[in-house]
Amino acid sequence: MPERDLSTFGLVGLGVMGRNFILNVADKGFTALGYDLDPEKAAALEKEGAASGRVRATDNLEAFVGGLERPRRIMLLVPAGKPVDAVIDALLPHLEAGDIIVDGGNSFYKDTDRREAFLKEKGIHFFGAGVSGGAEGARRGPSIMPGGSREAYAHLKPIFEAVAARYQNEPCVAYLGPKSAGNYVKMVHNGIEYALMQAIAETYDLLKHLGGLDNAQLAATFSRWNEGRLQSFLVEITSHIFRQPDPLGSGALVDRILDKAKQKGTGKWTSQNAMDLGIPVPSLDISVSMRQISALKPIREKAEGMYPKPALPAADLQWVEAAEATLYFTFITAYAQGMHLLSEASKAYGYELELGEIAKIWRAGCIIRAALLADITGAYQARPELDNLLLDPGFAEKVRPALEPTRRLVSAGIQHGIAIPTLAGSLSYFDAMSSGRLPLNLVQAQRDYFGAHTYERTDREGTFHTEW
Ligand code: 6PG
Repeated sequence: MPERDLSTFGLVGLGVMGRNFILNVADKGFTALGYDLDPEKAAALEKEGAASGRVRATDNLEAFVGGLERPRRIMLLVPAGKPVDAVIDALLPHLEAGDIIVDGGNSFYKDTDRREAFLKEKGIHFFGAGVSGGAEGARRGPSIMPGGSREAYAHLKPIFEAVAARYQNEPCVAYLGPKSAGNYVKMVHNGIEYALMQAIAETYDLLKHLGGLDNAQLAATFSRWNEGRLQSFLVEITSHIFRQPDPLGSGALVDRILDKAKQKGTGKWTSQNAMDLGIPVPSLDISVSMRQISALKPIREKAEGMYPKPALPAADLQWVEAAEATLYFTFITAYAQGMHLLSEASKAYGYELELGEIAKIWRAGCIIRAALLADITGAYQARPELDNLLLDPGFAEKVRPALEPTRRLVSAGIQHGIAIPTLAGSLSYFDAMSSGRLPLNLVQAQRDYFGAHTYERTDREGTFHTEW
């Protein structure tokens, strides 16, 4: 192919995300070449991209690799797991030293480390770059979380900065760190996403059962909240969901959707890794557990017949304002846990993460974008070493007034048998994290009693054991 016909950016995997991402790249003035094994997908993109004159597509791997400027910039948007390895294996014989592969999927960070090390030996740069924002984000501007070689990032920077979402004219992408830093950050993004989604779902249950709100009122309430401090993508789409009529019947679609939530694993990975690193993220853990509990519908239904719920009180609209404060409080604790995990992972894995920078690129484009992220950015920019967001004086000002309504509503929910483990668990996380003294002295005593595991004392140095 003549040099002038070479494309600047290559993309493998022309599913919805891939197609949208490459069209976005072309919109920003770059020439781009797509590749998919499926000739129909390649042909569809070729047709769709014809208008811009900058996008082409092929189902021939050699033509694809041969059609790219060097160093080649090849992004993969294929399902995480084996497909990523399969594409790398297929590309490898055609690549040259200095070429760059970017994995834009939700890959497990340890897989990214393995791939990065393997490709480094061959002189190929490998980036794990989480892309958030769904299909619409890929087309109009996602948040992109790249990790890999800092030097090689220079070849990606102009393209990523052009296609990413913008927050007050700043692109929602930044070089995050070496190796799997990008995939790790995206994994924690998703862990936080699970917690925010579950917190919204529990708030919906409370508004419905204690506040007596119908779908129209729920839609109006979430719309109103989205105008204030809870402004966020997830609150916004929730307001839309309550307005959506059932296309196959009468009433709202949400009431016809089966209450069993699926998951692809990123939330679970976050919890598993947080356990390994010893950082508590209970709001995230419980959200994963709730998806598991939701899947156990036959057991839930059987048990419901055995354990009648307490009667609900008369509907009272006073709960609406308490619910707003509770959700705000829970959002803060969920971000606080996710950021805390990132700060520890940064030390454990040598990622050198800048938490302010991460909060900054989450302010637009991604699923957890929220007004709160501007405040979180400010808190970490002012105090990069902050261990936990709850220790930030600015956040303390936000948390303190939310506590009374949160305690009141969580108590009422529990009293009436409404399952709100993320809201209640977030409150208990807060109470424990803000208790200088916990009853775990007793746990130590028990361990020493039955296993001679020893204990430390409050009044002197050393390790002690007692014959109880
Ligand atoms: C995003 C989303 C995206 C995807 C989740 C869904 O940031 O754009 O997080 O990555 O929608 O992986 O995850 P579950 O299927 O596990 O809910």
